[in-house]
Amino acid sequence: MNGAIPARNILITGANGVLGAATARYFLEHDAACKVHLGVRSRHERAQALAAEFPGRAHLCPLEVTHPAAWAQALDVIGTRSGPLNVLVNNAGYHEDALLASMTQVQWRGVLEANLDAVFHGCQAVLRPMMAQRWGRIVNVASLSALHSPAGQANYAAAKAGVLGLTQSLAKETARLGITVNAICPGHIEGALPAGWSEEQVKALRREMPMRRFAQPVEIAAVVFFLASPEASYITGAALKLDGGLL
Ligand SMILES: NC(=O)c1ccc[n+]([C@@H]2O[C@H](COP(=O)([O-])OP(=O)(O)OC[C@H]3O[C@@H](n4cnc5c(N)ncnc54)[C@H](OP(=O)(O)O)[C@@H]3O)[C@@H](O)[C@H]2O)c1
Repeated sequence: MNGAIPARNILITGANGVLGAATARYFLEHDAACKVHLGVRSRHERAQALAAEFPGRAHLCPLEVTHPAAWAQALDVIGTRSGPLNVLVNNAGYHEDALLASMTQVQWRGVLEANLDAVFHGCQAVLRPMMAQRWGRIVNVASLSALHSPAGQANYAAAKAGVLGLTQSLAKETARLGITVNAICPGHIEGALPAGWSEEQVKALRREMPMRRFAQPVEIAAVVFFLASPEASYITGAALKLDGGLL
């Protein structure tokens, strides 16, 4: 392990979402020295509450992850505010399901851009500051759909599988630089199930889970926190399945 690990300066994209906000809270509650930059786009309410609860340590950071120029601007703002970034959690993403036969170009491209292109832009934006520090942690939030592609998710499954490939390649490129790159593959997360599911559908899905429950966001956040820690120094290029034993 590297002798002098810098204090962690963290950017979490999509930090107003269920998992992003839980991850930000986990960092803020478990590492008193860290600074957390909350990437936000249209909604701000959870991020604003965190910034108010942890003044001086949690900051909102407007970031449309599909725009390389927005990344450059966000990194500038973060650098000025609290020094060079050394942890990136690529968490922003969404799915828009459709059978491939009827999937529109917009559904295909939109999901690929937000879930895969954005991870490319983010990784590229943070490499230079991480290389300069010779220390960095990148955690990419993929999905179980990358490993076990459901019908109706050709766009999302392809994007998230692409994230795993990118993660493994980049991990090899940065292994000697003190920068680790890992991906997580969560299954269903409590409080973040697809909108419009009926109570019966949710119950039936829960019965299919070996643990008869979905993940609590904090159970996923704790893994991100560990992968972003100095102690996780020998884990890189991994795709960690967080599905309660489903697959
Ligand atoms: N929920 C699950 O069961 C589950 C399972 C496996 C993997 N995941 C993955 O976990 C991650 C977080 O999901 P979640 O459940 O927490 O979803 P969520 O509550 O819907 O949050 C998603 C966040 O991503 C942001 N976002 C989406 N596209 C963006 C873009 N182009 N630029 C900037 N921000 C963007 C959204 O911002 P806005 O406020 O602007 O919309 C929102 O804050 C996603 O990558 C998802 O694919 C989720």
